[in-house]
Amino acid sequence: MKDRVVVVAGALYDKGRLLAARRSAPAELAGRWELPGGKLEPGESPEQALVRELREELGVETEPVARIPGEWPLKPGYVLQVWTARLVSGEPEPLEDHDALRWLAPHETDAVDWLDQDRPAVAEAARLLRER
Ligand code: CDP
Repeated sequence: MKDRVVVVAGALYDKGRLLAARRSAPAELAGRWELPGGKLEPGESPEQALVRELREELGVETEPVARIPGEWPLKPGYVLQVWTARLVSGEPEPLEDHDALRWLAPHETDAVDWLDQDRPAVAEAARLLRER
C-alpha cells in the first residue's frame, strides 16, 4: 500500500534500560514521551530509516534487533511500527524533536507520560527488557 506513511520508532536498549524521549513539538504532543523515530523516506527500508532517524535525532549509531509485532494507527494515513534496537556507539543527546531523554530501568518504564499510540509497543518492549 503506497498511500500510507510508515513511521518507524526504536525501543533503544542499553545496559538493561530503555530510552524514552520527550517531544518538544508540535504543541499537541510537546511534553509527552515517545520512542524516538520518524517517517520512512522513499527507497528506504524500515531498518535503514530507523538507523538514520536515531542518528539525526540523538547522534548515536544503533543496530535494529527485531520488529515488535503489530502496527499502530497515528493520524489518518500514518502507521507506527516499532523495532527494538541496541546502542552501538555514542551517548544519546536531544538534538532534534526532543527536549529531554531518560534511560528507564525495567521497573521504571511506566514512569513517564508516553504518547497513547506508543503505549502498546512500550509495554511489549518493557516485557522483553525484563526477560533479558
Ligand atoms: O522526523 P520525522 O519528521 O520524519 O517524523 P516525526 O515528526 O518524528 O514523526 C512523524 C509522526 O509520527 C508525528 O506525528 C509523531 O507524532 C508520530 N510519532 C508517534 O506517534 N510515535 C513515535 N514514537 C514517533 C512518531
